[in-house]
Amino acid sequence: MKQSEAKARIDTLRREIEEHNNRYYILNQPLISDFEYDILLNELNTLERKFPEFISENSPSRRVGSDITKEFEQYEHTYPMLSLSNTYSEEELREFDSRIHKTISQSIEYVCESKFDGASISITYKNGSLFRAITRGDGNIGDDVTLNVRTIRSIPLIITGKGIPSEFVIRGEILMPRKVFNRLNEERIKAELTPFANPRNAAAGTLKLLDPRIVASRFLDCMVYFLLGEELPHDNHYDNLIEAAGWGFRVADSIRLCNNIEEVFQFISYWESERKNLPYDTDGVVIKVNSLSQQQELGFTAKSPRWAIAYKYKAEEATTRLLSVTFQVGRTGAVTPVANLEPVLLSGSTVKRATLHNADQIDLLDLHLNDMVYVEKGGEIIPKIVGVDHSYRNEHNKKIIFISICPECGTALIKNEGEANHFCPNYLHCPPQIKGRIEHFISRKAMNIDGLGEETIDLLFNNNLVRNISDLYDLRMEQLVPLERLGEKSAANILKSIRKSVDTPYHRVLFALGIRHVGETVAKTISGRFRTIDDLINAEIEQLTNVYEIGPKIAASIVAYFSDADNLEMIKRLKSAGIRFSDENETKQTGNSLEGKMIVISGVFHEHSREEYKKMIENNGGKNSTSVSGNTSFILTGENMGQSKKEKADELGIPMISESEFLKIIGNK
Ligand code: IVH
Repeated sequence: MKQSEAKARIDTLRREIEEHNNRYYILNQPLISDFEYDILLNELNTLERKFPEFISENSPSRRVGSDITKEFEQYEHTYPMLSLSNTYSEEELREFDSRIHKTISQSIEYVCESKFDGASISITYKNGSLFRAITRGDGNIGDDVTLNVRTIRSIPLIITGKGIPSEFVIRGEILMPRKVFNRLNEERIKAELTPFANPRNAAAGTLKLLDPRIVASRFLDCMVYFLLGEELPHDNHYDNLIEAAGWGFRVADSIRLCNNIEEVFQFISYWESERKNLPYDTDGVVIKVNSLSQQQELGFTAKSPRWAIAYKYKAEEATTRLLSVTFQVGRTGAVTPVANLEPVLLSGSTVKRATLHNADQIDLLDLHLNDMVYVEKGGEIIPKIVGVDHSYRNEHNKKIIFISICPECGTALIKNEGEANHFCPNYLHCPPQIKGRIEHFISRKAMNIDGLGEETIDLLFNNNLVRNISDLYDLRMEQLVPLERLGEKSAANILKSIRKSVDTPYHRVLFALGIRHVGETVAKTISGRFRTIDDLINAEIEQLTNVYEIGPKIAASIVAYFSDADNLEMIKRLKSAGIRFSDENETKQTGNSLEGKMIVISGVFHEHSREEYKKMIENNGGKNSTSVSGNTSFILTGENMGQSKKEKADELGIPMISESEFLKIIGNK
């Protein structure tokens, strides 16, 4: 390769790698697999070695990616958080073993551990108490996510026992169990939020949430793998981890002490298939020299320890032919490209289709029709195309071009700045959007209208009987009975079920409307604050964003929805059909002096009952919580306050406010 070509390739690689770093660490939306990322980084390293004149301090090859975000305070790591050198090959692992034997003359023990695929965390304990938890950040400085980490049950807040160093750092991986991940994504899809790509991204994203209560609801777990400090209990890694398990940390059962590299290979091959039975994703095995003095002798390179290496499993992959790409339009108008493949067996099931995510992904892969493509099933449920085998490329095959008009209604597609997806803006007349909204409206968690499935909705739509959700309430027996497959009995059932749905509570009606970004939880929150639909229709962006948990994106979507004359007309018709558009039994919000505050009530009160205080908190924009945490704003304290709450509040320095002070705050004399 000529020098000028090398320079051009190096520049391209650096740009691409930085882009992938940003997607992985900041956006939590990686486009490529770790394997492909490693290939890019490897190529860059090789070129920089061959052409040292182009080495630059700012090259992504010189640093570990950074996850620092501006919302958190940053702290320096007492011990830098390095990464591990990676390999996918048995041969390189043998070379690692030989290098170690060259430096160390005594016998060597290795510790094998699963390589957990989550977000790394470094937690400092002082005098037996959790002091601070920091993300990896750029390896030297990370984000302080202590409040979020405190919600994770497998991380002890206080530890007791013998031989605990007065100060130590413990590192591990924050994980989201696959089951929790699947449930979370189902909810996100329903709420029109982008689903997380895999449990790793979901764990990393959750760790960076600003509200620890949401973190707590996501059941994160933490597997620890590294103990650091001046006065560690043992002179070897294995015993230190087992000791930490005794203090209450979670250490993987799979950890194993090996006497030579052959035993390491046995561990690797056993866990290659067995890892699928674990509740968490693992992507390889970490092999570490056990003795701390041997570790010290081996030392570090600029980026990683010489005494450890990660052997990574390749995600299961198959090669097959790309037959065509179809474009699907969802309920919100988002267009998703789907690859239709020649059926191929992958991890025990036949794969015929794979997701292509969006236009960027198609461009990145530079896909052509009839290409032989690599399909991978990683942590994700839906297989994806991760690359093209260019040796099979026939130059006559057409490049896949993202469509510019909606395949369902012919409207020109749009793509908003900063969003990855193309949208069909024909909200009112695009058939899958109309049908999707109706399907959402009747679904169990919305209006719960049984007897109406996807097929019946198709039938009603194709016969011009239903064009929007309010049409459902005008349906009559004589219109339904003649339709094919619908007898008198099912027609009667459908009508009965539609009639019954008028009793659905207001918050579920709000959810059923299918406003973008308004999922079940948001619908409940806004129904509590805007007690009638007219209050909500008249709400301005600012009033909406003042509500805890409602950000600018949700607020803008609500305002846009109610600015549409057709939506207002539809609501008018739903109102006259008797649908509940208010929470009449509830009192209205009276003030906002407690906006954004989390308040715990404890003790016996004289002026008002506990229930009344709860109402007052809500009516003044606050939230009532039952347990004291770092997130509690204050405690409304009556007589005989609970002892454990008092201790916790003292420990966290949370203010306690009396009944009379509280009533003053909310302006109630
Ligand atoms: S040890 C200096 N052990 O992999 C050694 N890391 O690529 C520090 N990881 O940032 C790492 N499982 O987030 C170690 N059993 C394990 C691990 C593990 C997952 C992650 C960790 C680290 C990354 C290195």
